[in-house]
Amino acid sequence: MITNKISSEPSLEAHEMAIANWKNQTIWTADNLYVMRGMNSESVDLIYLDPPFNSKTNYAAPIGSKAAGAAFKDTWSLSDLDKEWINLLDKGKYASLRRILLAAITASDKSYLVYMASRLLEMKRLLKPTGSIYLHCDPTMSHYLKLVMDAIFGKGNFRNEIVWKRKTGRGETNHRAKRYGTVTDQIFYYSKSSSGRFLPQYDSRSSDYVSHIAKTFPFADDFGCRYGTDNLASPSYRENLIYDYRGYPPPPKGWAISKATMAQWDLEGRLAFPKNPLGRIRRKRFLNEYPGRPISNLWDDIPAIPSHSKERTGYPTQKPLKLLGRIIASNSLPGDVVLDPFCGCATTCIAAEMNGRLWTGIDISPKAGDLLIDRMNSEVEALYKGAIRTDIPRRTDLGKLPPYNCLPNRKFLYGEQDGNCAGCLHHFEARHLEVDHIIARANGGTDHRENLQLLCSSCNRVKGSRDMEYLKAKLQIAA
Ligand SMILES: C[S@@+](CC[C@H](N)C(=O)[O-])C[C@H]1O[C@@H](n2cnc3c(N)ncnc32)[C@H](O)[C@@H]1O
Ligand SMILES: [Zn+2]
Repeated sequence: MITNKISSEPSLEAHEMAIANWKNQTIWTADNLYVMRGMNSESVDLIYLDPPFNSKTNYAAPIGSKAAGAAFKDTWSLSDLDKEWINLLDKGKYASLRRILLAAITASDKSYLVYMASRLLEMKRLLKPTGSIYLHCDPTMSHYLKLVMDAIFGKGNFRNEIVWKRKTGRGETNHRAKRYGTVTDQIFYYSKSSSGRFLPQYDSRSSDYVSHIAKTFPFADDFGCRYGTDNLASPSYRENLIYDYRGYPPPPKGWAISKATMAQWDLEGRLAFPKNPLGRIRRKRFLNEYPGRPISNLWDDIPAIPSHSKERTGYPTQKPLKLLGRIIASNSLPGDVVLDPFCGCATTCIAAEMNGRLWTGIDISPKAGDLLIDRMNSEVEALYKGAIRTDIPRRTDLGKLPPYNCLPNRKFLYGEQDGNCAGCLHHFEARHLEVDHIIARANGGTDHRENLQLLCSSCNRVKGSRDMEYLKAKLQIAA
């Protein structure tokens, strides 16, 4: 059963899938990888992420702005690979993803992609089958990120590359620049499965909308209703749809509708009859029945936040509420659950709140919580009833797992590892190997077999609750 319930308090007794194990309006100020590992599977309807882009820039908010003190690094080096590298690349499970990660040209790019891939895998687990994900990026890494997204979500679940025009003007300040000005970002939209929810949006506000309406609905009927006309001829030959109507001859391939429908539309005043008796009947489309121009993948009608807007917090890379409002409206219904794992100054959370969605946000910067509360007061004018947490949630959807070091687990792992220690790779008798959590429980690791391995007692002591990268580095130094 899929519900949108969010437990008011995390409860270890609730084992029902699709119930979030966190309170609505929770902001986590911690590494999103660990927080997401502790969240229940299939409990989220929509994820928007605007991660660092590997832009080789370190961002800081200006002193004196609401966001002063917020900073994040957007430069990757091999040291950032740490634990995630081992999990993704040392196991055969993600073969196609592994090939893509290895194709990155520089070590920095590789490190960044591993960082992203390990988090995107968690995001996929968190999404409901009807869920959607929007990854906001720019040309720095978009070409690699598209491949990573294809490998994780499936090429068939790719929906759009949205091009958002985030700047007006030329985009380059230096008139001697050796390239065109860059004024756009890319947003990759995927659904979790073929049953991903999509609610088309219509434009009725862009600057050329008035001229679009004038062109599309140029006529007025006797009652003053504006309308445009469409062709009513069948595109392919339809013998049964070749008939005269009110003395007007049929098109050579016949009409697009039956005679009964033609009569019905005539009754409803939906047909335009030409003065020329040999001319063609057309269908009338009325302006008052037009939902607007369907939004395409080119979003050039959402400007950056003006410098004096109440919305501006001073947070570097802050995105407009209108951008998030459109994404939320396109892929979720009131009461649905929205997650932003890189929430910055909480734009997604505020947009979700304004649109009656349930939400949670994660940001490694402790500033995120302060900014959220500030914006809830000033922009939503609502009392903040959520929680700001730094701990890692405990999943409540796992049911009862056997004790991690039970005999069946030990036997299974011994067979899987051919009796070798997963650290030093030496062969041992089963009784000399110990069951270890690959990702420590303190970091959101679970008792699932996938997160278990056998280590000899010496490797297990060295590793403790750290990650495999640490153990491997120690073993290399010792060798
Ligand atoms: C591009 S900004 C997001 C801006 C946001 N969309 C907004 O409108 O404010 C990226 C954010 O990711 C956060 N971040 C970077 N690494 C993270 C991690 N491992 N876990 C959680 N947040 C992280 C940074 O602190 C930064 O706030
Ligand atoms: Zn060992």
